[in-house]
Amino acid sequence: MANTSWLIVMLLSITCRESMHCNGFTVDPPVDVVISDVGQLGRLQISWSPPASQVNVTECSQLYQLEYFDTYIDSWSAIRTAKMNYTAQFDLMKDVRVRVYTLLRGPCTNGILIKSSSYTELVQNPPSTGVGTPVQDFVCVYHNMKYVECNWGRSPKLSANSQQHLYFWHRELDQTEECPKYLKASGTRFGCNFTENSLPEFTDINFCVNGSSPEGPLKPAFISLQIQNQVKPGTTEKLHLRKVPEAQLELRWDNPAGKVPAHCLEWEVEHNQEGPDGKIALQQILTDQKSLTLPSIHDTQINCFRVRSKLSKYCANKGFWSGWSPATCQPEKREKAPKPEQSRDIVHVYVFIAFAIIAILVLSLCVGAVLKMRSLRDVKKPDALLANVFARNSVLTVMDA
Ligand SMILES: *[C@@H]1O[C@H](CO)[C@@H](O)[C@H](O)[C@H]1NC(C)=O
Ligand SMILES: *[C@@H]1O[C@H](CO)[C@@H](O)[C@H](O)[C@H]1NC(C)=O
Ligand SMILES: *[C@@H]1O[C@H](CO)[C@@H](O)[C@H](O)[C@H]1NC(C)=O
Ligand SMILES: *[C@@H]1O[C@H](CO)[C@@H](O)[C@H](O)[C@H]1NC(C)=O
Repeated sequence: MANTSWLIVMLLSITCRESMHCNGFTVDPPVDVVISDVGQLGRLQISWSPPASQVNVTECSQLYQLEYFDTYIDSWSAIRTAKMNYTAQFDLMKDVRVRVYTLLRGPCTNGILIKSSSYTELVQNPPSTGVGTPVQDFVCVYHNMKYVECNWGRSPKLSANSQQHLYFWHRELDQTEECPKYLKASGTRFGCNFTENSLPEFTDINFCVNGSSPEGPLKPAFISLQIQNQVKPGTTEKLHLRKVPEAQLELRWDNPAGKVPAHCLEWEVEHNQEGPDGKIALQQILTDQKSLTLPSIHDTQINCFRVRSKLSKYCANKGFWSGWSPATCQPEKREKAPKPEQSRDIVHVYVFIAFAIIAILVLSLCVGAVLKMRSLRDVKKPDALLANVFARNSVLTVMDA
């Protein structure tokens, strides 16, 4: 019981420290909250002014607590600052919601931190202008950390004469820039190639896909991402597979060429085992090593391997799998030597075509011969018919008589 009341007293005193009713001193929330868009495609500046009642309080230091709804993580974020402005990243396709409190501490409050009981809130709705729906499926891929390519899905309802634009901004740019090299299919833009070294890592890159159409401006889409989370490593070119003593198979491979840090890669090895009865067993192995040893390999089995890589979670929040390497088998499969096989195939095709031509010739000769025989018979037939008719007539005549 004593323990419980002690706890309540403690909780009350903690609450007191953060509120304003304890020593009768109150503080008002800030005024004139303004959200300004300086054209950085999602970075907004929030500014405010101190409450009128606090303008002359000099013996206390004034702080502000800004809370804003972060739509990227679907929760409120809070910061405390002595300044009267703050810049944060927002998704301009969603509501922008901010709340500001005043905090006071110093001799005027007996040294305890006092927070205004209420906040000043500002909610800004996304602009509802524009026709159609914003582009969907916007994906950026940082190919082997060499160049960035972004693609978007074209809205099926988009009219043929509309033109889409991609703009981007990051903190090294004074103002937005347009895509340096659009990717197009039959005249329609569907993506952008930023070519080499054009986007910085570890900073938000804000994109906007907007456009114009005969019906008016298209509804813009806003996307924000960091390119080190979009890496797709290069494809591993070659696997080294060899038999080692004690019936083991050893598989080794190298990092893809490029600037992806070697320690960042994790690998998926696909092991395809074909038994003498033709049964295939498929196995996927995840590893952070660049080699693999497999025990007890039977001579009657065919073992094939291929690998692909991805940035591990220690290096990036997410990423894309690389393409699969070519497969390597033990014992080597016939597909391993594609060139002779291919030329042999071509010889087969030629032989087949020659046979086909001869067959067609022979067939047409036969058909010709048959037709000729028929026509010869047809010439004879009228006589036979006539003979029949005469025969029948004569029969009839006989009957009449
Ligand atoms: C602040 O102080 C100035 C001069 O000392 C005075 O003119 C003004 O009215 C005061 N403002 C408030 C809100 O009390
Ligand atoms: C932000 O506020 C500080 C003081 O609180 C001021 O010096 C600065 O100029 C403001 N920045 C902008 C961009 O308005
Ligand atoms: C994009 O640019 C890179 C680097 O200049 C180039 O290697 C790549 O082929 C380009 N991609 C397309 C689809 O044009
Ligand atoms: C698209 O956005 C850019 C950057 O904000 C702007 O300069 C341009 O006027 C916009 N275009 C259309 C057609 O809305």
